[in-house]
Amino acid sequence: MRTPIIAGNWKMYKTVAEGRELVRGLLAGLGAIADREVVVCPPYTALYPLGELLAGTPISLGAQELFYEAQGAFTGAIAPQMLRDVGCAYVIIGHSERRQFFGDTDTTVNRKLFAALASDLRPIMCVGESKPQRDSGQAEVIVTAQVRAGLAGVSVAQIANLVLAYEPIWAIGTGDTATAADAQAMHAAIRATLTELYGDATAQTVRIQYGGSVKPDNVDELMSQPDIDGALVGGAALKADSFLRIIHFQ
Ligand code: 13P
Repeated sequence: MRTPIIAGNWKMYKTVAEGRELVRGLLAGLGAIADREVVVCPPYTALYPLGELLAGTPISLGAQELFYEAQGAFTGAIAPQMLRDVGCAYVIIGHSERRQFFGDTDTTVNRKLFAALASDLRPIMCVGESKPQRDSGQAEVIVTAQVRAGLAGVSVAQIANLVLAYEPIWAIGTGDTATAADAQAMHAAIRATLTELYGDATAQTVRIQYGGSVKPDNVDELMSQPDIDGALVGGAALKADSFLRIIHFQ
């Protein structure tokens, strides 16, 4: 019903040469993946050469960020059409590291989302709570509020092109993954919010990835949960063997 989607977020890692080596390794070990979708999100500097390498392969290219304006005097920023130009199909929006270090808010996330959709880029919109928010019992309220604010004004037709990613901040890069049951509970809460906003039939079609210390040894259990439809992988996506094992989850 929902095609699982495994995406690698390379963050600020990999030169062009290193990226080529990783992509070649992935392509060599990929095999037939008709029942799942795979995306890699390299840093901006590697998008163009890796887009050339990935053209015509089963792996899609994604970017880690965009700016919402189409063009103009915005030093250092990259526009949606520029990402299309180098072969991107996806773009991560609202990652907690962008929210923490680069000033993203629910409002800018929402603007970026519309800019991506207007350029035929599929957004992977990230949400997630901090450790203090979880410890104080606020996780579900915070996360579902981020979903509502990020999706403000997004239509039923548009939501079909969107992927959500639940990434608890305390689980990112820490090795401290959410239990499969806790992740499932949050994914169910996110889907309930989608049902309120778009109706049950549409909510059932939207893919929700889990991210935060996804590894070869926990991916199978996470992916066996009914509302976990994919993984957004950081550290374990930087090596071909570990990312291939995650792609080939059972
Ligand atoms: P890690 O897999 O390294 O925890 O990173 C998760 C993440 O932030 C993916 O976007």
